[in-house]
Amino acid sequence: MAQVTHNPPEGAAADWTIPQDWYRYTPQEHAMWDHLFARQAAMLPGRVVPEFMAGLDILRMTRPGIPDFAELSERLMQATGWQVVAVPGLVPDHVFFDHLANRRFVAGRFIRTPEQIDYLEEPDIFHDVFGHVPLLAHPVFADYMQAYGAGGLRASGLGAIERLARLYWYTVEFGLIRHDDGLRLFGAGIVSSYGESIFALDDPSPNRLGFDLRRLMRTRYRIDDYQQTYFVIDSFEDLLRQTAETDFAPIYAELADQADLDTATIVTEDRIYNRGTQAYAHAKAGTA
Ligand SMILES: [Fe+2]
Repeated sequence: MAQVTHNPPEGAAADWTIPQDWYRYTPQEHAMWDHLFARQAAMLPGRVVPEFMAGLDILRMTRPGIPDFAELSERLMQATGWQVVAVPGLVPDHVFFDHLANRRFVAGRFIRTPEQIDYLEEPDIFHDVFGHVPLLAHPVFADYMQAYGAGGLRASGLGAIERLARLYWYTVEFGLIRHDDGLRLFGAGIVSSYGESIFALDDPSPNRLGFDLRRLMRTRYRIDDYQQTYFVIDSFEDLLRQTAETDFAPIYAELADQADLDTATIVTEDRIYNRGTQAYAHAKAGTA
């Protein structure tokens, strides 16, 4: 979500949005969406938080083809007052935060090619829309995303964007949530990935630790492979309360003196759901 450029590219509006140009998608591109959708929709029930599956229904995302943002926004607006807008790629932090604070979710409009099916450097429309948008139909999660955007605008002024980015990473992108029958997925980076949807929940390799705001903002993350640690929230209500009702400025000041924690570290205060073997990460490091 970060990139240091300050002017929108040619053809984009001042807020970096561009038309989705939905009519331009080819039959092959729609078929790619359908393929990815079918694969995830068959695997996610029982693994993903039920509110995610409900969001797919509320927004009628189960219909074939790449969703048209205008239609999707209409339904989302009715549900929670959010919209989905297209952007050309990564946008500067302040632009991203400003959209979220105004209940607009920015999404890429391109879709991966068959060669990129399981690995992508930049988020495509499947990640952005399938991964992120269903939970925006949930009122509490929708409020959390807005609160995050507002917090981002404040963090920019405090030089604390990296800290706050970790909160986004470990919740919105890679979060797990407690459920009656065990843990469930909700992070978009997980639920839009076939491999990580299995790994994050079932593999003995990663740590699964209870959510703790300060701890998580000290923790580095991996952008090149599956996470070595996942954090588990108690509920969306709790996540919203902890972020919307917390004054982050003193926390940023407090954390400035503390060392970062490595991606696999466990500390004594951690609430441990699973202590990971890290076998996957070690094997990858050994063969790299
Ligand atoms: Fe994302």
